[in-house]
Parts: sequence; C-alpha cells; structure tokens
Amino acid sequence: MKEILVVYWSGTGNTEKMANAICDGIAKTGDKFVLKSVDDASADDVKSYSHIALGCSSMGAEVLEEAEMEPFVESITGLVSGKKLLLFGSYGWGDGQWMRDWYERMDATGAQLISEGLIVNETPDADGIALCEEAGQALAKA
Ligand SMILES: Cc1cc2nc3c(=O)[nH]c(=O)nc-3n(C[C@H](O)[C@H](O)[C@H](O)COP(=O)(O)O)c2cc1C
Repeated sequence: MKEILVVYWSGTGNTEKMANAICDGIAKTGDKFVLKSVDDASADDVKSYSHIALGCSSMGAEVLEEAEMEPFVESITGLVSGKKLLLFGSYGWGDGQWMRDWYERMDATGAQLISEGLIVNETPDADGIALCEEAGQALAKA
C-alpha cells in the first residue's frame, strides 16, 4: 500500500471538489492519500512521494494562480522527474489552455504524467466527479 500526495489551490471550491473526488478514487484502490491545500504544502513534502496529484483552476489569463500555486509549482520542478503525476483543475470561459501549458511544463521536468490533465468546467457535476474518481484510481494503479 502506498501513500499519494494531493495538493491543490481552489478559489471558490470547484477544484477542491475535484481533489476530494480524486482522493475518494485513491481510497477505493486501498491506497492512502494525503490531501493538502497548497498553502499547507512545501517542496519538501513532494520529495518523499512517488505518486502526486496537483490541482489548480485556470486563473489570470489562462495561468496558474499566481500568489501560491505558481511559486509552489516552480519550487518542485526540479524534484518530480520520474514521479507519476496527475494534473487537474476547473476552468470557466476558456478552452483549457492553462492545462495544456501546465502539462507541457511538467512533462519537460521528466515527470511521468498519467494523462493530459483532467479538466472540468466550473463546478463538477456527477459525471465530473466520476471522472475525478477514475483519475484517482488510475494514479494509484500507475
Ligand atoms: C480572477 C479569475 C480569473 C480567471 N481566469 C480564467 C481563465 O483565464 N480561463 C478560464 O477558463 N477560466 C478562468 N476563470 C474561471 C475559473 O477558472 C472557474 O470559475 C473555476 O471553476 C474556478 O475554480 P476554483 O473554485 O477551484 O478556483 C477565472 C476566474 C477568476 C476568479
């Protein structure tokens, strides 16, 4: 049994709902999870995990939230090579460009991304929650 780290930033709770559902999916496999809002997480946390999920909604103009998530992601780019990584987040009026950019950035670190990134429009509905649970299970099995 392994433990998986899930770190997220969420302004209005949409990405947080995704994070909770991803944790539910992990738990269904029998693995454990540690769920942290990014303000409680540090680069040191990342070092000891082989499987990590990172979540952030699309902010600014198709970028990561800049005060907390962006510096956190920057601080771990040298630490995730070879680790299994799931990216996720909620978006609004865009087309997911922030996630495509984030995927490319993390792919360039040598991390093993398990998907192109799970995106949900605004508040996840039942289908969105199911996708998050499946992604959590896929991360645990990766
Ligand atoms: C300041 C701000 C900037 C945003 N920028 C974008 C954007 O560039 N593209 C987009 O698709 N949605 C954008 N949104 C919409 C959010 O991504 C969307 O409402 C999302 O569901 C918020 O998720 P959260 O509650 O996890 O933060 C923005 C919202 C805010 C408040």
